[in-house]
Amino acid sequence: MSTPPLPPPGCPAHGLGPYGVQRLYGADAERDPMALYEKLRAEHGTVAPVLVHGDLPAWLVLGHSENLEAARNPSRFARDPRFWRAAQEGTVVPEEHALGPLVTWWPVINFNDGPVFERLRGAVLESLQRFDRRGIRRYVMRFANQLIDDFVLNGRADLVTEFSSQLPMLVMTQLIGAPEEHGPRLVRAVPDMLEGSESALESDQYVTGMLHQLVEIKKAERGHDLTSWLLDHPAELTDIEVLAHVRVVLVAAYATTANLIANTLRMVLTDPRFRANLSGGRMTLPDALEQVLWDQPPINTVLGRWATADTVLGGQEIKRGDMVLLSLAAGNVDPEIRPDLSQPVHGNRSHLAFSAGTHECPGQDIGRAIADTGIEMLLARLPDIELTVEDSELRRRGTLMSQQLVELPVAFTPKRPGAAAPVADSAPGPMPSSVSATAAQTAPPARPRRPWLARLLRRR
Ligand code: HEM
Repeated sequence: MSTPPLPPPGCPAHGLGPYGVQRLYGADAERDPMALYEKLRAEHGTVAPVLVHGDLPAWLVLGHSENLEAARNPSRFARDPRFWRAAQEGTVVPEEHALGPLVTWWPVINFNDGPVFERLRGAVLESLQRFDRRGIRRYVMRFANQLIDDFVLNGRADLVTEFSSQLPMLVMTQLIGAPEEHGPRLVRAVPDMLEGSESALESDQYVTGMLHQLVEIKKAERGHDLTSWLLDHPAELTDIEVLAHVRVVLVAAYATTANLIANTLRMVLTDPRFRANLSGGRMTLPDALEQVLWDQPPINTVLGRWATADTVLGGQEIKRGDMVLLSLAAGNVDPEIRPDLSQPVHGNRSHLAFSAGTHECPGQDIGRAIADTGIEMLLARLPDIELTVEDSELRRRGTLMSQQLVELPVAFTPKRPGAAAPVADSAPGPMPSSVSATAAQTAPPARPRRPWLARLLRRR
């Protein structure tokens, strides 16, 4: 794409920028990204020209197979932002751009390809694969119980602030081997540094300082954790590489998993398709998670890839150095692969939520395990849980990359803290009598347990 020197003014009313190209940022674009993707698909097909912050041109990949083509061909579409022509020509200084952290090169896995990448990726992937699902479930159960205990007596909660946004980081603190007391602070600091708030710099310094300490602690004494396994990996990462990759993992794991938990809870509580399927006895919680990964992937657009040479994708002529955005959310609803979106996707994992190719998410099993176990725990302890507002009233906020629920207010029968429901490694059974008895002594008459919820928990 060539950008003329004096672009005509855009049309703010329609989210259009110079030459009528669609802006992918700003209130208009962020209000309803799915509708915007469909408009772009209708106008341009599977790959559409768009503008990112600063009205810089990019391509948005909307087709399922085109997303796979771009993600699976790093020699044509690099992950390395140093290919960005706008930066090479000096039109933009990546560090100073609104998308700075996403377009500024760093010597870490998510900004590299080729041998440098393969060495780092091997270390991260193999270290993450050393966690066993049972161990992760134990951490999740412990922290999910702690969080539920904090609000269970109230009979009401906001599941976004009090549950989904806290659980992943508390679990990740354990997985990286950080001292327990850092958990609550990390829950605040990681999102804070990503959101660019006034205290972002301070939070960034705290996270970096904590990780420095962590690497030193683990160098002195290894543990059963990611930091230790990265230090011991045959790829011989330097201390700085270990620190940088523990940080990459924390950042990559946090908002994605929080988003998946919130969206799945919302769907389980509101979507008639789930109730219909559940009452038919066919839908399990893992099925529900998978449906959300199709319909509301936690990252809706990956920024980005950069064309390494002139090429064609989806019939569009892409020039060397163009920015290419992978719209995973649009690819997941591509009519070519899902002509009828109301059809459930039972057992079909060919969605793009974890992307594909060499950079496909290496933490997906961990993310799934945190979401699955956390939600199972919550539903088992609060079986009569209900949303207190209409689904249509739930607010979301979003960026080019993702949309998050702002709140998920619920009500349930109050219970005494500590009355944990059993969530075994095998299928959960009925509440043990001691637990039920404790709850019965303290709680007002229970709201009726939902049959579909009971079935959801039984059928695992
Ligand atoms: C369940 C929610 C999650 C979703 C939907 C998700 C999705 C993604 C996506 C779309 C990417 C970008 C891939 C690309 O550039 O094409 C990614 C990268 C990554 N994710 Fe996840 N992720 C999740 C959870 C996690 C967790 C729990 C971890 C760590 C324990 C993790 C670690 C990473 C890392 C390290 C990368 C960079 C990989 C690379 O560039 O090679 N993610 N993830």
